[in-house]
Amino acid sequence: MGKILVTGGTGFIGSHACVAFLNAGYPVVIMDNLSNSKVEAVARMELITSKQARFYQTDTQDVDGMRQIFEDNKIDAVIHFAGLKAVGESVQKPLAYYENNISGTLKLLQVMEEYHCETMVFSSSATVYGCENPVPYLEDMPTSATNPYGYTKVMIEQILRDICVANPSFSAVCLRYFNPIGAHESGLLGENPNGIPNNLVPYVAQVALGKLEKLRIFGNDYDTPDGTGVRDYVHVMDLALGHVAALEYGQKHTGFEAFNLGTGNGSSVLDVVHAYEKACGKSIPMEIVERRAGDIAISYADASKAKEMLHWEAASDLDKMCADSWRFTLQNPKGLS
Ligand code: NAD
Ligand code: UFG
Repeated sequence: MGKILVTGGTGFIGSHACVAFLNAGYPVVIMDNLSNSKVEAVARMELITSKQARFYQTDTQDVDGMRQIFEDNKIDAVIHFAGLKAVGESVQKPLAYYENNISGTLKLLQVMEEYHCETMVFSSSATVYGCENPVPYLEDMPTSATNPYGYTKVMIEQILRDICVANPSFSAVCLRYFNPIGAHESGLLGENPNGIPNNLVPYVAQVALGKLEKLRIFGNDYDTPDGTGVRDYVHVMDLALGHVAALEYGQKHTGFEAFNLGTGNGSSVLDVVHAYEKACGKSIPMEIVERRAGDIAISYADASKAKEMLHWEAASDLDKMCADSWRFTLQNPKGLS
């Protein structure tokens, strides 16, 4: 058996996916430029699984560096997480986002072509549903974007569709993640954002820890049951297992396929805060402020395609997601060092 290459494998979702792949018996090679993660994640995943992964500090812009990885290892498939992911930052720095995410992916695909590697599982996002589609989102709805980050996901999906037309033996599985939260239940791996978090759960975690004063809730006048935004939060380890199922699917089928990875349930900001309060045993100070530009009211998946074709279904509820997030936060107050 050849190996799998996990780009962005020391990042939040990638590191949990590596645990799932190692546990499933896959030989794992990790490539990351460490721009948004720490190499300590490799030691943590080895501690959890008692298995080794080979790590390369390599950028997707570095074609020779990537060739070296393919020379050193027989790579059967690439699980492609590497990319920049902050929506707001992408509006400020569009060139950096297009360069890193699109040009980096093109270079990776060119190296894969040189080495006849024809399977990719790609980290797409629910953001490709844009702001016009009704919920729940279905995979065959039209895709669109409202910011450069979202456009990188829409464009990379298109690039993969086009490759599958040109090369009938190529397999591209795009996974459209909804809102991944939580952490490995050992407390050894979790989300480790640089600076002040943008996303809800990492922000709430810092408030619970006493590092940030209070949560600002971005609007309570949406057309939702309690007025706050509704999202489909999915446990990162459930998501990780979805990648193993997607790879198995990709190894058996050629062509392009996209799957939603979500629970199919929506939770409001207040639902998340209450679940987190239960998990940490403290109350979370909060205030209602203006809506955040670019936010939509409701986003949740129709998760039936992944259930039917990948035999994958999310198992954890919001309470478990918050309990695991809190355990990681308490055990690693400064993140992974
Ligand atoms: P993350 O930032 O924790 O992980 C991304 C990893 O990629 C980091 O370790 C970073 O150092 C690395 N990286 C970035 N640019 C690179 C490059 N040019 N070369 C090599 N490595 C590079 O983010 P994450 O939350 O784990 O997200 C992983 C993927 O999933 C991303 O593509 C992201 O867009 C996508 N995604 C994330 C979410 C989310 O809410 N977290 C939602 C939908 C999709
Ligand atoms: N929220 C707050 N206060 C905060 C942070 C968030 O009230 O400090 C609210 C938001 O308004 C939203 C909800 O919490 O209603 C979730 O916000 P997140 O920032 O955690 O997540 P988003 O749904 O906005 O964004 C996520 C990913 C994006 C991706 C998008 C669509 O971070 O990368 O899902 O898939 F594009």
